[in-house]
Amino acid sequence: MHVPLLDLKAQYASIKDEIRAALDEVLDSQLFILGPKVEELEKKIAAYSQAKHAVGVSSGSDALLASLMALDIGPGDEVITSPFTFFSTAGVIARLQAAPVFVDIDPVTYNIAPEKIEAAVTARTKAIIPVHLFGQCADMQPIMEIASKYGLIVIEDAAQSLGADYMGRRAGAIGHLGIFSFFPSKNLGGFGDGGMVITNDDGLCDKMKALRVHGAKSKYYYTIVGGNFRLDALQAAVLTVKLKYLDGWSQKRRDNAGTYDRHLAEARPVDIVLPKAVYRDRGDRNYHIYNQYTIRVKRRDTLQRFLKDAGIGTEIYYPLPLHLQECFKGLGYKKGDFPIAEASAETVLSLPIYPELSTGQKDYIVGKILEFYRALP
Ligand SMILES: Cc1ncc(COP(=O)(O)O)c(C=O)c1O
Repeated sequence: MHVPLLDLKAQYASIKDEIRAALDEVLDSQLFILGPKVEELEKKIAAYSQAKHAVGVSSGSDALLASLMALDIGPGDEVITSPFTFFSTAGVIARLQAAPVFVDIDPVTYNIAPEKIEAAVTARTKAIIPVHLFGQCADMQPIMEIASKYGLIVIEDAAQSLGADYMGRRAGAIGHLGIFSFFPSKNLGGFGDGGMVITNDDGLCDKMKALRVHGAKSKYYYTIVGGNFRLDALQAAVLTVKLKYLDGWSQKRRDNAGTYDRHLAEARPVDIVLPKAVYRDRGDRNYHIYNQYTIRVKRRDTLQRFLKDAGIGTEIYYPLPLHLQECFKGLGYKKGDFPIAEASAETVLSLPIYPELSTGQKDYIVGKILEFYRALP
């Protein structure tokens, strides 16, 4: 049997006619840059996320970059974030000659540990970028309290978490700004790159709309220096069709996670740490959308090879925390600074969790993992 980490062909097959019709509409219009299709998607994502505004941009990375630019973050400024995330969360901070300041993560959610943030705040701190990793929100309530105490802006990196909820509120709409990525492997994935910024702030929305067209408030009149951060109409057309299915797909991911939870827990719990959906004790709806189902295991690399030989695709998100990346040497961090992020990087493994996984495929994956651990002394 062959089970890839992600099977986008299966998803495409299920909505092919609808997607083709939407693409044809754009092709017939020959309106490729921003325009009505992008505006339609922006309205729908804003409503879906319970935010006032949404601004379509060229990628999740550019959504982060433009957000920092909208806040005039630059040389001498510090931005607090997680060392256990995709590179661009911190890369965009460095690109603006500001300093990423890392704070270790929570061992259960892999998200920034709120209780460790305050010690990292200095007179130079301007913002916090909590990352909602793997489809589950960071603990936003204490983060917003710290931000308000020190007058900091919060940009939620919800690249992996469109549709996740935290205490009844949607990921991305809790901070001052929130960003999404439409990279094809995300729960809402385009046919290429794409991203979005959401905010309830009218001024930040206007500035973002100017920044994505080089800083023009009106055509050929530039009030600030921006970039080409535009979302394509073709991407918007695809994403608008897919958005209708997003909740159903995320529910299937949750069902798949439930299956893994039940069967893997039976095995050797000492060897496998399962992902946990948390904050349930806080009452309101908290919703993990499982962009990844990430376990922590002993002998991770051997298990990964074993699964590969059995035809099962897995991935390590992420093998080296950002504070140890060569490009950030100048920041002065060293091994041992963030032990939880470092230990996670050595033991995490993401399993196939995509909505179209069949029962047979899930049984096969679980069976192979159990076989591996049963054979251990
Ligand atoms: C946590 C996180 N932040 C930012 C990004 C950047 O998004 P993009 O690949 O669309 O630039 C990604 C996705 O790749 C991500 O997973």
